[in-house]
Amino acid sequence: MEEIKYVERKNSNCNKWDEQTGMFGEENLHAMWVADMDFRVPQCVIAALENYVQFGVYGYYKIPQEYYTAFINWEKVHHELEVKKEWMRFSPGVVAGFHWLVQMLSNSGDAVIVNTPVYYPFLNAVKNNDRRLICSDLICEDGIYRIDYEDFEKKIIENQVKVFILCSPHNPAGRVWKKEELERLLAICKMHDVYIISDEIHHDLVFEDNKHIPSLSFKEYEDRMVMLTAASKTFNLAGAQNSIVVIPDEKLREKWDKYTLGHRVIGGNAFGYIATQAAYEGGEEWLTGIKAQIYDNYLYLKKELSEKLPEVIVTPLEGTYLCWVDLKAYVSEENIKDMIQKKCRLAVDYGDWFGGERFGTHIRINLATSHENVKIAVDALVDNI
Ligand SMILES: Cc1ncc(COP(=O)(O)O)c(C=O)c1O
Repeated sequence: MEEIKYVERKNSNCNKWDEQTGMFGEENLHAMWVADMDFRVPQCVIAALENYVQFGVYGYYKIPQEYYTAFINWEKVHHELEVKKEWMRFSPGVVAGFHWLVQMLSNSGDAVIVNTPVYYPFLNAVKNNDRRLICSDLICEDGIYRIDYEDFEKKIIENQVKVFILCSPHNPAGRVWKKEELERLLAICKMHDVYIISDEIHHDLVFEDNKHIPSLSFKEYEDRMVMLTAASKTFNLAGAQNSIVVIPDEKLREKWDKYTLGHRVIGGNAFGYIATQAAYEGGEEWLTGIKAQIYDNYLYLKKELSEKLPEVIVTPLEGTYLCWVDLKAYVSEENIKDMIQKKCRLAVDYGDWFGGERFGTHIRINLATSHENVKIAVDALVDNI
């Protein structure tokens, strides 16, 4: 098994550790926020990049067939999804991808629906593009989240929703949606002629017997669906800004091509392609080790909090490395930021960022770090709450 190596990232121009003022108003908080890992990437990625760096010329790059093949094989082996090369497109990050798709699939003033609480750039993609944001809250029972189909459909009808941005697996609720859940959601979208942007960036990070079901495995919805994914979350390559847009439907591909040609952003940089290809080709063993470390971190956090702060609600981690924790028994939404920053000295993602004050007693904790860092965070919560 490839050794998992923690890297001290402070003072390395790292967003998570070195750029906290924008979101927190101060620096030097113990960083458990931004969703990247504090681990060195697979050795095969470093070797491929080193090889290219040593080559010494970084001119225009021809995307090799092997890049496509690496992704196609990965999806087939890990997700039983058949992807064709001609369906694949590029975007410089999944966030850019869903911003573009919102523009492409709807008009100014149209309604776009999301399942809140949700990864907050979804909300920005709607608001920044002058679309109407429609939130259908997930139902939470004992920390476990599920879809409110009635509310989802009612809001689609009432607001004439044009686009749904699906988060699968779900950040921050940690859910790996079951086949039946996806089927029902997609059927509602089809019935009301809603396009689906399916963000599956976390799809390799699922635990225990949970299994990710790609939205595109439901063939009957292909004509209204685009899948966004990347090697970036799985293999810690976010800075390389290489992500993959999968569009089986010819008409939707034409729309995408027209849009991206109009903006003249049709490809990424050589380093991103090389890192992504190498990771998909050789990163599997590394990923197994990383997932074990993340899940250990989760079990540790859950056990410690349930013993020492028994009324904290830790949402079960089916997928993603982001743990959603409700502190409502101990702290009010007015006091939470004071408590987390001033007392605990932690940088976490605050619940209200994910869709409003009703999530204000939650925090999201990034578990893709060393056991020691998780312990520091847990101890800080236990000692100060
Ligand atoms: C659901 C989801 N989509 C997209 C991203 C980021 O995508 P990218 O860095 O490729 O823009 C994240 C990062 O946390 C995420 O959780």
